Amino acid sequence: MSNNVVPAIINLDVKGPVISRHLYGHFAEHLGRCIYGGFYVGEDSDLPNEGGIRLDVVEALRALDIPNLRWPGGCFADEYHWMDGIGPKDERPAMVNTHWGNVEENNHFGTHEFMALCELLGADPYVSGNVGSGTVREMSDWVEYLTREGDSPMVRLRKANGREEPWRVPFWGLGNEAWGCGGNMTAQQYAAEARRFGTYCRDHGDNKLYRVAAGANSFDLAWTETLMKQLGELGCAYRPTGYMQALSVHYYTVSGPWRDKGDATVFGTDDYYRTMLQAARVDELLTGHSNVMDCYDPGKNVGLVLDEWGTWWNVEPGTNPGFLYQQNTLRDALVASLHFDVFHRHADRLVMANIAQTVNVLQAMILTDPDSGALVLTPTYHVFEMNKGHQDAASLRVDLPSGVPTREVESKELATVSVSASRKDGRVLVSLSNLDAGQAADVELDLRGGAVTGVSARILTAGELQTHNTPDAPDAVAPRAHDQVTATASGLRVHLPAHSFVTVEAALA
Ligand code: AHR
Repeated sequence: MSNNVVPAIINLDVKGPVISRHLYGHFAEHLGRCIYGGFYVGEDSDLPNEGGIRLDVVEALRALDIPNLRWPGGCFADEYHWMDGIGPKDERPAMVNTHWGNVEENNHFGTHEFMALCELLGADPYVSGNVGSGTVREMSDWVEYLTREGDSPMVRLRKANGREEPWRVPFWGLGNEAWGCGGNMTAQQYAAEARRFGTYCRDHGDNKLYRVAAGANSFDLAWTETLMKQLGELGCAYRPTGYMQALSVHYYTVSGPWRDKGDATVFGTDDYYRTMLQAARVDELLTGHSNVMDCYDPGKNVGLVLDEWGTWWNVEPGTNPGFLYQQNTLRDALVASLHFDVFHRHADRLVMANIAQTVNVLQAMILTDPDSGALVLTPTYHVFEMNKGHQDAASLRVDLPSGVPTREVESKELATVSVSASRKDGRVLVSLSNLDAGQAADVELDLRGGAVTGVSARILTAGELQTHNTPDAPDAVAPRAHDQVTATASGLRVHLPAHSFVTVEAALA
């Protein structure tokens, strides 16, 4: 490839699968300062809040068109007993959060607080039920409490706790990481549990649950195969009213070994490229699981849900190792933009993805200062915002007839330019990432089957890959207008500086 000029063909009139808005989903666990101090500060806080929920956090997430929120875990979900989190706060029993810091959980943020948060956000709730240490009855009662109308034991309890109307709960998780913190089960064991638990998570009235079985640890394709195979063994390829409508998988980008995952802000170029290679493997991951699912469900009725993804670094020095608090740099933003391109390409099977996690934990959108409460939007936040036009848009295939520039990283090839596109409501949105740490690239968009007008572009980049936002420098990495997009005879030429993410938006003429 000479001068890093990348030809890219997009047929504007050939609509691909719709990119579900739920690919831009979120995750909030009772972990570190995600819930307490992040989303929830309590009604007595000096920070503006509604029922204890931080309104600045709500406002920032509403600006992303946040589609859903997964809660209460994670590993925490499989030791959470929902009845401890309802009723008067001072009467709620406390528990120990054994997974995350061994701290006491007072259960002040429970079912009603979570549903109020979702209502404020305008996001669909995705509740993870407890399979690991809970009972079928407990989970079944929770569904009844949340979603049943009329009169029943759980409805009476809900009403006694101040909520007359049922809530709408579209997404329901049948446990979490059952192969590990969710019970250390084999795939066969879990498959049987998923059938049992899923059966008694009833659809009450109009509320139709989309049940998500706890899936594989990254590349464990055998786990997915076991879950898929049982659908056939039960004598049906898939019943829409069955006990599971989707299965999940988790994939984290970790550039070093788990015992020393590297620092969020202090890293070299080699670490950076290793990270990008790991991030790019999400394509291989989704392809692998989708292929297995295709064997048992060629009609793609069962959804694939990547309900935990993102970077995982060593915690910030001086912070509780169990709280998973990490900074977020331009590198994290590029990990996110690369993931989204891959998600868009898998829109036919991938129905939901949830970044881990939304506030103060792992690859967060928002960091809050524990002392001052100051809120900072991370570089990753800006990728979600710049890309939000892809939500519920028809994907557009991007053909790269001459390939893209590559770099050799650990004897493997890393493609350093990534592009995806979609159209919705007479507008087209193209996302372009240049992962190269030092070299610019130009993408020649050959736009066929239509013409565009009113082109505008934004760029997210910074002087260094390590640049990040702090209360003193909140906009060190923030989107800016990008004027290096020029019209050509067949479309647009987009200049991508080294380590940058660019979005180009236009109206279809
Ligand atoms: O997101 C942090 C943890 O990572 C989750 O609790 C767990 O599911 C995963 O291992």
